[in-house]
Amino acid sequence: KEIVVSGIRPTGYLHLGNYFGAIRNFIRMQEDFNCYFFVADWHSLTTHPDPKDLRGNVERVLAENIASGLDPEKVVLYVQSDVPEISELYLLMNMLAYVGELEKVPTFKDKVRLQPENVNAGLLTYPVLMATDILIQRAVKVPVGKDQGQHLEMARNFAQRFNHRYGNLFPEPEAFNYGDSLVRIPSLDGKGKMSKSENEMATLYLADEDDKILNKIKKAKTDSATGVIGSPMPESVSNLIDLMKLVSAPDVATFYTAAWDDQTIRFGDMKKQLGEDMVKFIAPIREKAKALQQDHAYMQRIMKEGAEKARENASKTLNEAKKLIGIKYY
Ligand code: TYM
Repeated sequence: KEIVVSGIRPTGYLHLGNYFGAIRNFIRMQEDFNCYFFVADWHSLTTHPDPKDLRGNVERVLAENIASGLDPEKVVLYVQSDVPEISELYLLMNMLAYVGELEKVPTFKDKVRLQPENVNAGLLTYPVLMATDILIQRAVKVPVGKDQGQHLEMARNFAQRFNHRYGNLFPEPEAFNYGDSLVRIPSLDGKGKMSKSENEMATLYLADEDDKILNKIKKAKTDSATGVIGSPMPESVSNLIDLMKLVSAPDVATFYTAAWDDQTIRFGDMKKQLGEDMVKFIAPIREKAKALQQDHAYMQRIMKEGAEKARENASKTLNEAKKLIGIKYY
C-alpha cells in the first residue's frame, strides 16, 4: 500500500475548509492507503499560542477527525511532538534548505505582514519541518487544501536535493485530492479563504451550534443585483452554490444555478435551504466530537498507540538518512 501523510495545526476550531480540503480525503484514503495523520503542534508554536490552550486544541483536532469518520484502528493517528525523530531529521534537512528560497515562500511573506512583531526562525523554516513530517514516513501522497500546494513543491525539492547529494532515500510526495485539483473553501464574507483565525462570522466551524450555523449563513454576503439575463454569477453567490454542492442534495445546486440564470433566484430561500443542509451535515460531527472529548483516557490511549507506530516507521528512515549523511559511527 502507498504511504500517505497529512497534518493539521491545533491552532483553533476546525472549519469547513479543513474538512473539505483535508479530512474528507483522509476518510476516503484510510481504506486504500497506509495512512499517517497527525496534529502539527510544533508548527502551531510559530504563532505563539497560550500553553494552557494546547492540550484542549490537540484533543479537539483528534476528536473532530475521529467524529468525521477517521478510524484510529485503520490509520496511524498521532501528535507531531510525540515523534522526536522528526526533530532530528528536521535539523538535518535544514542544512539542505537555503535561506533565500525560504524567504520567498508566500506563506512566510504573509506571516511577516500579519505578525511583524514575531518573525521567528520557526516561521522561516516552517516548510522544512513540513517536508520532514512527510519525508520521514516516506509518503507519496499528501491530502491537503490548495493553500498547501507550494509547501508540497518545496517538499519535493528537498527530497530531490537529499537524494541527489546523499543517495536515494525519499520518494517525491504529491499533493492529493480526490477529484484532482486541490480544494479552496472560500470564507462567507467573500474575502479570501475560510481560515481558523480570521473573521469568526465568515467561518463555519465543525463545533458550531445549529443556531450559529443558521445565523452565519443568513448573514453571508450575496451581491443582490441579479443583473441581466446571462450575466455571470458574482463570486459571493457562486461560493454559496459551491457549498450547496458539498452538503445539499445534488439537484439543489442545479436548481439555484438555474434560478440565477432566469433571474428568479431568492437569496432568502437559498440561504434557508443551505442553512438547513449545513446543520444536517455539521450537527452529528459536532455531537460525536463533544462526546469523544469527554473521554480523556480514550484520547490519551489513541495518542500513545499512534506515537508508537509513527516512531517505528520514522526511526527507520532517520537511521537510513544518518547512514547516508555519514553521521552513523557505530
Ligand atoms: P492547517 O492546519 O492550516 O490546515 C489543515 C488542512 O486544512 C486545509 N485547509 C483548507 N482547505 C481548503 N479550503 C480552506 N479554506 C482551507 N483551510 C485549510 C489545509 O490545506 C490543510 O490541508 N502546514 C499545514 C499543516 C502541516 C502538514 C504537514 C500538512 C504540517 N505538516 C505535513 C501536510 C503534511 C497547515 O498549516 O495546515
